[in-house]
Amino acid sequence: MRAGILGLIVAIGTTASTAVVSGFKSPLTRTVIAATANRPVAAIFPSAMAATSVDNNNDAPEADHVLYDVPVSNNGARCRIVLYKKNISRDRVNIISPASIGGLKSAEYKRLSPLGLMPCLSIRKAAPYDGPSSLAESDTIARYLLNEYSDVGPSFQPDNPRSNQICRWHDMYLTPIQGCMYKPSSRLPFGDYPDRKSAISAYRTNLNIIEGFMAEEDGMTGTGSPSSSPSYLCGGGEVSLADATLFPSCVFASYMLPKFDEDPTRPMPPLPPRLTGWFDDLRSNDEAFSRVYREIMDTLVTSWEGTNRRWDDIWLAGLRDTAPSTIFDEIISGDIPADVVREDEHVLAFRDINPMAPVHVLIIPKDRAGLTSLRKATAEHTNILGRMLLAAGEIANDETLGFGDGARIVINDGPDGGQEVNHLHVHVLGGRKMGRTFG
Ligand SMILES: *[C@@H]1O[C@H](CO)[C@@H](O)[C@H](O)[C@H]1NC(C)=O
Repeated sequence: MRAGILGLIVAIGTTASTAVVSGFKSPLTRTVIAATANRPVAAIFPSAMAATSVDNNNDAPEADHVLYDVPVSNNGARCRIVLYKKNISRDRVNIISPASIGGLKSAEYKRLSPLGLMPCLSIRKAAPYDGPSSLAESDTIARYLLNEYSDVGPSFQPDNPRSNQICRWHDMYLTPIQGCMYKPSSRLPFGDYPDRKSAISAYRTNLNIIEGFMAEEDGMTGTGSPSSSPSYLCGGGEVSLADATLFPSCVFASYMLPKFDEDPTRPMPPLPPRLTGWFDDLRSNDEAFSRVYREIMDTLVTSWEGTNRRWDDIWLAGLRDTAPSTIFDEIISGDIPADVVREDEHVLAFRDINPMAPVHVLIIPKDRAGLTSLRKATAEHTNILGRMLLAAGEIANDETLGFGDGARIVINDGPDGGQEVNHLHVHVLGGRKMGRTFG
C-alpha cells in the first residue's frame, strides 16, 4: 500500500508519565507528541492507510487550544517551533493528529479546516473571547500564537520587515511549488510549473532570493560550530518568524533536492551558502529547531524510504536518463549541422537528411529527460509532449516549408515501430498526397 498524500495517519492511545518527546523507536511506537502526567497522549505515526484496527483514543485533554498536526507536516512545523521556543505547555495548546477526529477528510475536521489541510488550530476559549473558533492556515496560526503568548519567550519579531518579507516570499513563491520534491507526477502541475524539473529549478531560484534577504551582519554566515550561539535569519541574535517559517522547508530541501540532482557526479548543494550555515547552525545549536528537524526527518527516513515506499511514486527521484547519447545530442549542441526550421527553448525541428517525402521534418525535445521513446513517457512529460504536437501542427501548416493541404505526422516507437534514434522524435511528412498504407 502506498500513502498517496502526506499525512495519512493514525493515532493510538497510550500513556506516559513524563512530558517527553521520544525518538521514533520502532515503526509502531513512534511517540512524537509530548504527554502530560497520567494523561492519554496521541502517539502519531505515518501509516500507509488511515486507522484500521488501531486503538483510537479521542480523549483530548481540555486545553484552550488544540493544534491538529503531525510531525512530518512542514507548515505545522513553524507553529510547533513557536510553541517549543515559547515552552507552551500541553495544557494550553495540545497537539494531536487529525486522525483523532476522523482524519483530514472527515466532516468534523473540515468544519475546522475547510480544505482538510494541516495544521489547524481549534480555539476553545470561554467568553468574553468572541474570535474565530478555528484557524486553518499556518502563518495565521503562528501569528495568533505569538499574540496570545506574547508574554512568554521570544517575540519572534512580528514587526520586523525583513522577517515579514521572508515569510511572505516563502508562502507565496516556495510553498506553491514545495510539492515538486515529493508529489507523484500524476498530480501535476507544481504551482505555475508544468513539470518537476522546472519547478525544482524555480524552487532553487527562490531559495537564492531568500538568501539575498538575509541580514549581512556578523554571524549571518552561520558557521554551524557548536560553540557559537545560533545565528538567526534576520540577525541580531534573536529568533524571528522567518526562521520558524523557512526552517522546515529547508529540512525537506536539504534531504530531498539531492535526490533530483541533474549530474550526480557533481552534486549541487541543496541550499545556498549562507542558508546552509544558518540551517546547520540551528539544527545543531537550537533545541526547538533540532527537535522539529528530528520530527520531520524521522518520518522521511523511516517511513518514506522504508515502509510505504513513497519514493516509488516519484518520477526522477534517484532516477536519471542514463541511456547513451545519440546523434540528436550533437545536433542540439550544434556539433553536427542541421537544416533547422524551427527552434525554441524546448523543441528543435530540422529537415531529415534522408527525406521520405518532398518535405520531411523531425521534431525533438531538446531535453530528452528519459524520453528515449514515447513508451517511456510519464505525466512529467505532459508539457513537452504537448509542445511537440503543437510544433508539428504549426510546421505542417507552413507552406513556405513546402507543405500543401495537410501532412502525415508519425512517431516510430521502438524497434518494431522502425525507430532509428533513441531520442523521441515526431516525423512531419508532406508536399504530396500520402498513400493509404501505414504498416
Ligand atoms: C518549560 O515549562 C515547564 C513547565 O511547563 C518547566 O518545567 C520547564 O522548566 C520549562 N522549560 C524551560 C526551558 O523553560
